[in-house]
Amino acid sequence: MHIVHVVGARPNFMKAAPVMQALGRHNGVRQTLVHTGQHYDFNMSDVFFRQLEMPDPDINLEVGSGTHAQQTSQIIARFEPVVLKLKPDWVMVYGDVNSTVATAMVCAKLLIPVAHVEAGLRSFDRTMPEEINRLLTDQISDLLFTPSEDGNHNLQAEGVARHKVHLVGNVMIDTLVRLLPLAKERLPKELPERYVLVTLHRPSNVDDADWLKSLVDVLGGVSLDVPVLFPVHPRTRARMSQAGIEAGSCNSNLQILDPAPYLEFLALQSKATAVITDSGGIQEETTFLNIPCLTVRENTERPITVSMGTNTLVGRDIPRLRTELEALLAGKTKRGKVPPLWDGHAAERIAQVITHNRASYPPSMAGRGE
Ligand code: UD1
Repeated sequence: MHIVHVVGARPNFMKAAPVMQALGRHNGVRQTLVHTGQHYDFNMSDVFFRQLEMPDPDINLEVGSGTHAQQTSQIIARFEPVVLKLKPDWVMVYGDVNSTVATAMVCAKLLIPVAHVEAGLRSFDRTMPEEINRLLTDQISDLLFTPSEDGNHNLQAEGVARHKVHLVGNVMIDTLVRLLPLAKERLPKELPERYVLVTLHRPSNVDDADWLKSLVDVLGGVSLDVPVLFPVHPRTRARMSQAGIEAGSCNSNLQILDPAPYLEFLALQSKATAVITDSGGIQEETTFLNIPCLTVRENTERPITVSMGTNTLVGRDIPRLRTELEALLAGKTKRGKVPPLWDGHAAERIAQVITHNRASYPPSMAGRGE
């Protein structure tokens, strides 16, 4: 059985790594790793491959940055000849980034079976590019692996056939469970006893200069009491400099840092007093680690982190962000539980399903490129 895995952007890497490892333990499975090149900086991509012990990609499509249409269309155009040549039994796509939907679409048109890991999540907010990517990918996937039961309900409501959907748990937590002991060895020696850890990169938070300034003002205010560590995504760094917010102009307790590698960031999360984010993955990781998380968004595609975990949605509401943060820093924290099947074994369950699902299309169909 030949399986092609597609990764492209930072949050894909920690999801694909455990699945590749689990499939590697099955006899008769050959795996090919395709990187679309959506993320290309060393600290957004290469360092993750090393730390996650992933093999180097067999093929890199090197699409780089661009508008959504440019990036998606480049991935589609460059992936089609590759997948036609590889003729895999399955293509596995991860998460909700442009690389996910673009390559799933190529496979659907070529009748190459495609499996979506982290299926079924919905924010019900179609202004988010990721929501469009999730909806489309799930409609055209042949196997859908959900991290939590809400995913199954969403897919059922959208008419996805039940037999395609498998509740397997959260593969991102597999990686966390495996690497947490190693991450703890990476804790910086001079780390303060208490600190707030921040990540922000969504267009809704960083593309509007006034809003971004007010968020940074809140962080500046908090940092007068508790140090704030803010590893900055390249997109956010660009927007900050366009908005005239320079690292030097912030007070020294607000530390504007480069994007952190996986192990270093996990270490920082595991000891944080509170985390402020707009990332999907970090909402899940903080829930697993039982660290309070404030999400600066109106909605989340990961509602289980709110209903069961340590996550609180603060919306686009600066006074609420301040109040919630003050409460957390005063020790008023929400108690959380780890959702079912977030147990470090999700990838093994995926490997079981995949290896028992022979491709359902005649191989000759995987050649209809013209
Ligand atoms: C993408 C995903 C988002 C995910 C995020 C994690 C989509 C629609 N969005 O958003 O879901 O949470 O990755 O990081 O796929 N850039 C660099 N170096 C890089 C990569 C990006 O400098 O290695 C800069 C470029 O200026 C680029 C911008 O970041 O234009 C945005 O990158 P892009 O991949 O388009 O989207 P993200 O915002 O990273």
